[in-house]
Amino acid sequence: MKNKGLPAKYYTDPSWFKRETEYFFADKWVCIGREEEVRNPGDYVVKHLAGESLLVTRDDNKKTNVFYNHCRHRGTLLVSDCKKGNAGLRFQCPYHAWTYGLDGKLLGAPHMHETEGFQLADYPLHSVRAETWAGHIFVNLNKNAMPLLDQIGGLKERFHPWRMETLNLIHRIEYSVKANWKLIVQNYSECIHCPIIHPALQKLSHYMSGENEPATTENYLGGRMVLKEGITTMSMDGVGKAPLPFLSEDERKFVYYYWLMPNLLLSLHPDYLLTHTLWPISEASTKIICEFHTHPDGMKEGSDFSSAIEFWDVTNKQDWHVSELSQIGIGSRAFSPGPYSVRESLLPGLDRMILELDP
Ligand code: FES
Ligand SMILES: [Fe+2]
Repeated sequence: MKNKGLPAKYYTDPSWFKRETEYFFADKWVCIGREEEVRNPGDYVVKHLAGESLLVTRDDNKKTNVFYNHCRHRGTLLVSDCKKGNAGLRFQCPYHAWTYGLDGKLLGAPHMHETEGFQLADYPLHSVRAETWAGHIFVNLNKNAMPLLDQIGGLKERFHPWRMETLNLIHRIEYSVKANWKLIVQNYSECIHCPIIHPALQKLSHYMSGENEPATTENYLGGRMVLKEGITTMSMDGVGKAPLPFLSEDERKFVYYYWLMPNLLLSLHPDYLLTHTLWPISEASTKIICEFHTHPDGMKEGSDFSSAIEFWDVTNKQDWHVSELSQIGIGSRAFSPGPYSVRESLLPGLDRMILELDP
């Protein structure tokens, strides 16, 4: 049978984990958050990606910059204890007080004026390639990578009506899941488990209503599901808030679910955007940041998204639980990959990417 899942080693072998995360997370455009996390000049946030500590800042020119978070003197972590905040005009190394501007330039280096040939200009923070799309910040640790838009292909036009760059954070939940990151992607990419583990979801959107987009590129996979008659969003009560302002009547009937390789799950609802970013910790453990965003008009007094937040928190936990059960079973010495059904047509796409890495 052609379409079977992957052998166990791709989920359980630490050396494979190292290899694939180097490829997917250090050599691809990876979503590390939203621009609004560094909304004002001086704002910063520290992110951890592929074993690196990265410093994300907003400079005086309103540009989002990302740097390797270590000092150019003797390598000390520049920002450690505080994960986010506002630095004012500069960052100062806690060791010998070298100071850096918000654009990464070295501004001051005590005692170095006596060192022959030393020039401040030669020691800016090491920068990381960063680009934004629709309010999402992406980084690529490969300096020679193709531009972000080449990776996300036609999604820029397709999702323009949601105007994601105008949306603001409503709520964030962090999860720690004892499962390989690919099991989370797989779980997200099919809904034949929905009637079994998501009874509340099944009441809002029939699991067989999904239409997958034929995969023309492997940089993203996805499709949409139809909301049932009388249901206007995914939430405990199925009653949506004000639709996002630029969506057509037709687009309000669907929820779009897309995986943007490697780590962004984009779920576009009529009245809010749900994002999950996946942060692999080990071959059997993944941190997941789940965020809800909506248009500022939808956040006015009286608009309460707690029904949607509760719905997805319940649904997320159901998904994480079965993903953890899969991780355990795949670790059995007797495990061998089983066949996919035709309703799991997106899953071989990710599998192919993995197998191509291991010729
Ligand atoms: S290590 Fe940063 S100033 Fe010395
Ligand atoms: Fe699910």
